[in-house]
Amino acid sequence: MKISENISLLPYNTFGIDVKTRIFAEYSSVEELRELLVRYKNERILHIGAGSNLLFTGDFDGVILHSAMRRARCLNEDGDHVFIEADSGLVMDELISQLCDMGISGLENLSYIPGEVGASAVQNVGAYGVEVKDVIESVRTICVADGSERVFTNDECKYGYRDSIFKNELRGQYIVTHVTYRLNKHLEPKLDYGNLCSETGDNPSVMAIREAVIRIRKQKLPEVSELGSAGSFFKNPIVPRAQYEAIAKQYEKVPHFEQDGGIKIPAAWLIEQCGWKGKTIGGAQCYPKQPLVLVNTGSASPQDIISLAQSICDSVKEKFNIDIRPEVNYI
Ligand code: EPU
Repeated sequence: MKISENISLLPYNTFGIDVKTRIFAEYSSVEELRELLVRYKNERILHIGAGSNLLFTGDFDGVILHSAMRRARCLNEDGDHVFIEADSGLVMDELISQLCDMGISGLENLSYIPGEVGASAVQNVGAYGVEVKDVIESVRTICVADGSERVFTNDECKYGYRDSIFKNELRGQYIVTHVTYRLNKHLEPKLDYGNLCSETGDNPSVMAIREAVIRIRKQKLPEVSELGSAGSFFKNPIVPRAQYEAIAKQYEKVPHFEQDGGIKIPAAWLIEQCGWKGKTIGGAQCYPKQPLVLVNTGSASPQDIISLAQSICDSVKEKFNIDIRPEVNYI
């Protein structure tokens, strides 16, 4: 294991915020994780992945844990499926790239998504019509309180849109160590989202879908290596049908998607209507190509980002009477 004191979190958050943590501890096995949990049992603990969904609002006075377990293995297979178990610290896109190379399908729509395996199972990341929950079979965890192992079935994870039991009633209580995916030996393409179909052409291979997704993402979303961001800053709101209909009477061609429980209106559209596209507060900017994303133009303080996010929420509330909520976790 590797333990550092008073180090900058700059390499550990994609927003590029330069704050410090008192202790940073990285472990390479479940046994090491258990040792760390005993050693730091009276400390404030935060477990992070790639830091692609976090906004550090100041120095962290506690212990940040990170998994350096980065392998994947085939557990078993049947006629149509392969069950792959991946370690929490494996970068999602490295896993997806290897799977696509082998012609294994199920995660290709999530290509190029930032983040690591463990955090993505907590957050239920999603893109281009697929959420990671669609292929998660089970999630192995360690209980923070006593170090015991607990395996959650997909149902027990209570997945929702960018949501799971690990973000709600069990928040901070379990650390994901491994995720098992149920993947397909034969491609079942999911091309319904937006322009994915026209980008892939007919009868695409798994690799062709991966390449199309990467092309689309690169057109719309900032590269975190070049411009700090945490991907989508807000979740897309779901509003009652009557509220959507009232908005649709006032505005031409309101983009919308039928959902269980209401109508989803893209937050990007709402934010654009409020005139925020490209606007800045300090070093924080509402990204011109995709206003759902807030970026750090280089010198943003956490306060710049918080102020921009709050101003955007206030505008959307005032103009549409809709609450848009951050997807990003404020720490
Ligand atoms: N739109 C505008 N103006 C813009 C951009 C988009 O009005 O400048 C409207 C368009 O109507 C467009 C709609 O917003 O059809 C949706 O845009 P997009 O397809 O880019 O997706 P999104 O709803 O903005 C979600 C995820 C992304 C994911 C994409 C693709 C959330 C919060 N975000 O964004 O996830 O990549 O779909 O599946 O659900 C992330 O979580 O970090 C992330 C990037």
